[in-house]
Amino acid sequence: MMNKKLKRASLMKRHETMFQCPICATNMAVTDLKSLICKNGHTFDIARGGYVNVTTHAPSVKYDKELFEARRMLAARGFFEPLSGALTDRLEQAGLPFCNFVSILDAGCGEGSHLARIVEKLQMRSGSPVLGVGLDLAKAGIVSATKQEREAIWCVADLAAAPFRNRSFDAILNILSPSNYAEFERLLSDDGIVLKVIPKSGYLKELRGFLYDGLDKQAYTSEDAAERFSSHFDLIDRTEIAYSKRLDQSLLAPLIKMTPLSWRAEKERIKAFLKKESAVTTVHLDILAGRKKTK
Ligand SMILES: C[S@@+](CC[C@H](N)C(=O)[O-])C[C@H]1O[C@@H](n2cnc3c(N)ncnc32)[C@H](O)[C@@H]1O
Ligand SMILES: [Zn+2]
Repeated sequence: MMNKKLKRASLMKRHETMFQCPICATNMAVTDLKSLICKNGHTFDIARGGYVNVTTHAPSVKYDKELFEARRMLAARGFFEPLSGALTDRLEQAGLPFCNFVSILDAGCGEGSHLARIVEKLQMRSGSPVLGVGLDLAKAGIVSATKQEREAIWCVADLAAAPFRNRSFDAILNILSPSNYAEFERLLSDDGIVLKVIPKSGYLKELRGFLYDGLDKQAYTSEDAAERFSSHFDLIDRTEIAYSKRLDQSLLAPLIKMTPLSWRAEKERIKAFLKKESAVTTVHLDILAGRKKTK
């Protein structure tokens, strides 16, 4: 049986025409299922696990392996299922897959659970092949993503300089991550859709209340984000998602670890939270759906 690295290198080979060198913007090819090489010889090796790192210097990212594994654990227990469901519904509603093939980029995919679930659901519903491409600047996130079975292209890259050619994607997902709209516009096909997920006021409100006695200064306001989004794309609709789940004891530590919210909290507060038997936790988000502006 082919190992993961070879399997994923073959997938990259099959789709090599979508790659573009992040340094000189020329076309790239996969050689010997080992490296991605551009016309000018810039070379990026395919790593064990089958991802490619196209960054040229080690970026400083605050997100570590522990955070990504905690997110993965919560995702595996269904904590984000309504979100991946809503995103899949929205893609379907937009007519995806358009024909017999569809490519989806998750820009800032982290440990890749959302992308993997969405690709799986869309493929099951439509019967058409769906190519998922996950990109994140944090190597720890991409390494964690490659541990899942789903076939996808995973790469460590800056979403402001993505290693793909113009109009390579029918859909771009951008979930709780920074954006670079000029780059998203370049990467999106003319009739493609971009879905941006932003937190709303109720996002993890119980945890914030517990850790900061409700005095948390970092209240979420999604209006600025929506405004920035609409200055680059035609905002066609927004879908609000709000749900609460009771997390049992075993998920409280992952909940604390998966969010930067707890970085500023007092240790005592975190300890007290971890002693709870369970905790109701709310997810409250907005999905902004946009299309390229008509010029
Ligand atoms: C809060 S996490 C969300 C991850 C994932 N979308 C999720 O919902 O689980 C934000 C992610 O954005 C990534 N990120 C931040 N700046 C980035 C950049 N310039 N290029 C690519 N990814 C970036 C981080 O590494 C991190 O994985
Ligand atoms: Zn190059």
